[in-house]
Amino acid sequence: MTERVVLITGAAGQVGRILMDRPPRPGWRYVLLDVVAPEGADRRDDATVVIGSVTDEVLVRSAMAGVTDVVHLGALSVEDEWQRIVQVNIDGTRIVLDAARDAGVGRFVFASSNHAMGFYTPADAPAGGLPDDAPARADTYYGWSKVAGEELLRLYCERYGMRGVAVRIGHCFPEPLTGSRLAVWLSPADARALVDAALENDIDAFQIVWGASANTRSWLSREGGRRIGFIARDDSERFADRFPPEQTRVDPTTPLGAHFTGVPLGEPMRTR
Ligand SMILES: NC(=O)c1ccc[n+]([C@@H]2O[C@H](COP(=O)([O-])OP(=O)(O)OC[C@H]3O[C@@H](n4cnc5c(N)ncnc54)[C@H](O)[C@@H]3O)[C@@H](O)[C@H]2O)c1
Repeated sequence: MTERVVLITGAAGQVGRILMDRPPRPGWRYVLLDVVAPEGADRRDDATVVIGSVTDEVLVRSAMAGVTDVVHLGALSVEDEWQRIVQVNIDGTRIVLDAARDAGVGRFVFASSNHAMGFYTPADAPAGGLPDDAPARADTYYGWSKVAGEELLRLYCERYGMRGVAVRIGHCFPEPLTGSRLAVWLSPADARALVDAALENDIDAFQIVWGASANTRSWLSREGGRRIGFIARDDSERFADRFPPEQTRVDPTTPLGAHFTGVPLGEPMRTR
């Protein structure tokens, strides 16, 4: 059996924990890189932990030895100072891509964000939903860094023959945190299925895909997912009665990026 060795950057975060919340799979090993130790990783036989930053080129190159695939999650995941965003989210992504290319990595999954598209509203969505690859409309420096990351990945795929999927993640948490995010929730099981599809199926050289479940209130296209063989199965509707109706209603004029569209640019946010 060919062994797959997947480097997951930012493995200690919300999405990294969700992706690793599964039993070991024969033939699959993981290198988990983060500035903090991923919880529970020391108890897994199929994972090696590397503590350090994606901006440390020497460390990233050494972590990349023997790696066949990359899932790049490591980033500042909310608005932050311009210099920090550029350093971690742009330079860091370039460093990971460079090392991946030199290691002959085959598949590269990049965690993009709905905040790359934050100014779209439901009123902008045609029948069938807002296309996965609609032109970017970033809502923050953070969202803009995700647009840049998508385009960096496209560049490396087109030049070097790597296959890449940029996932414009909606709201990936075990359960939706607010009513307004029901429309864009990506369930843990769907998140794992999406990344599996990106790593294992026959896919185009580069693709942008919405990272969202089959939510009743969704206004995002599922076509990109279908093209990589990802079929979303979960629906956030079962959580709807936890929130006040005024929070869960899909308002045609409310932007995808919600409050991110109004936060001061470059001012560090503490939470999503
Ligand atoms: N969870 C979501 O709903 C969501 C939505 C949109 C986009 N995303 C994107 O998905 C990725 C993962 O999101 P998350 O929710 O797990 O975020 P998170 O903030 O929980 O995790 C990010 C991880 O990256 C690590 N990190 C930060 N700087 C780093 C550096 N310099 N080097 C290495 N690791 C570093 C952090 O320590 C953290 O463990 C991020 O890129 C985020 O922008 C997530």
